[in-house]
Amino acid sequence: MTGLLHAHSGLRWIVLILLIAATFMALLKWRSNAPYTEGGRKLNLFTMISMHIQLLIGLVLYFMSGRVDFSQMKDAMFRFFTVEHSLMMIIAIALVTIGHSKSKKTMDEVKKHKTIFIFYGIALLLVLVAIPWPFRGFGNGWF
Ligand code: HEM
Ligand code: HEM
Repeated sequence: MTGLLHAHSGLRWIVLILLIAATFMALLKWRSNAPYTEGGRKLNLFTMISMHIQLLIGLVLYFMSGRVDFSQMKDAMFRFFTVEHSLMMIIAIALVTIGHSKSKKTMDEVKKHKTIFIFYGIALLLVLVAIPWPFRGFGNGWF
């Protein structure tokens, strides 16, 4: 449990860096009509994979964590992990998976960038809001 929690906590930084990079590269390349390169495709794919790994670890944590408890929903910390964090992250991961899949289906390279930018961009906002940052007061650290 502590090993998994530590992996989940540390992986947030990988997810964030990849998601920020993929979103901004997509915006730049969309606006400048740049081609959809193999490197760009890999960045988008690795971003999606890092989030799938978070989903897998998160689901395991969900059943093991003492901070997931449906009988204590009046408490902000329990409500956060039981509903807000998990639900928002699942939506963000779904958006990235759908965006990546849509980007594969169109042949238009500029449309690929636009699709990635919109889906990954909304996911990025959700992830930023749903991370239990230390200043939120849920007792979590930076790593
Ligand atoms: C991009 C996706 C995600 C990111 C960046 C993320 C990030 C984090 C972070 C930073 C923590 C605090 C870790 C600590 O205190 O050391 C955490 C805790 C937790 N996450 Fe996630 N998470 C993600 C997805 C998910 C998903 C999809 C679920 C469940 C379905 C989930 C379930 C949990 C649970 C239950 C905890 C609390 C564990 C505990 O403290 O006992 N997470 N997450
Ligand atoms: C609860 C766990 C997971 C769920 C529900 C899930 C779900 C999905 C779905 C729905 C797709 C299809 C996306 C598409 O149509 O393009 C997909 C693709 C993929 N997932 Fe996951 N996944 C999970 C865990 C993982 C893990 C742990 C990894 C890697 C360590 C991973 C790596 C991948 C890869 C490489 C693809 C294919 C990407 C491509 O080439 O298009 N997934 N996953």
